[in-house]
Amino acid sequence: MHLLIPAAGSGKRMGATVNKLLLPLLGRPILAWTLRAADRARSIEWIGILAQPSDWPAIEAMLAADPLATPVEMVQGGVTRQESVFNGIQHLWQRGNVERVLIHDGARCLATPELFDRCSAALQQVDGLIAAIPVKDTIKVTETGPNGIQVQSTPERSRLWAAQTPQGFRLPLLWQAHQEAQTQGWQVTDDAALFEKLGWPVYIVEGEESNLKLTTPLDLLLATQILEQR
Ligand code: C5P
Repeated sequence: MHLLIPAAGSGKRMGATVNKLLLPLLGRPILAWTLRAADRARSIEWIGILAQPSDWPAIEAMLAADPLATPVEMVQGGVTRQESVFNGIQHLWQRGNVERVLIHDGARCLATPELFDRCSAALQQVDGLIAAIPVKDTIKVTETGPNGIQVQSTPERSRLWAAQTPQGFRLPLLWQAHQEAQTQGWQVTDDAALFEKLGWPVYIVEGEESNLKLTTPLDLLLATQILEQR
């Protein structure tokens, strides 16, 4: 299975001035943990890292310090995650001979090799899937008005799932969906949302509670604890 890793973000919400994926976590950069898990997944045969060229030297140094068994290539990231993934898909499409792809955020460095393998196996049967876990909190839909943020409704919790990555797709469909998004000006925060807009089915693979997306300093603290206990 081919895997794309979006890693071209910034460190703004982490309170950092560099790409948060280059921040240290128990002795190695966050991104190195993500790559290590993907490398250990038996199903992953190629990894494309979507990153800003200014980060390439740091990432190359990281790969030199922590070499992977899986072939790795660097692809230029974009201004948004969506654009980064677009570049990655275009790269794979131009290579040819790639039928399916997994996409996994570099910021989800706690995903296990088994999760990658579960998603790869499930993707043999369907055109689109996401790792997700049932939502624990009661979620409110709101509207912001002159007096503040007002609750509008409460979706039935038993039907809500928190989306994670990996997300997996048949490549020709994902490429078509991303091109349509460009034409229509759709802005989405994950790739499955493009399938949904087009009415194409997306299935759920049970994710992992520990598969956090490292976004804030608290997440970094939690990730340290979780990795220490592994
Ligand atoms: O910012 P956030 O954590 O939501 O980003 C999700 C993932 O998308 C991260 O791994 C980040 O590096 C990546 N990203 C990207 N290109 C961007 C913005 C974010 O590859 N322009």
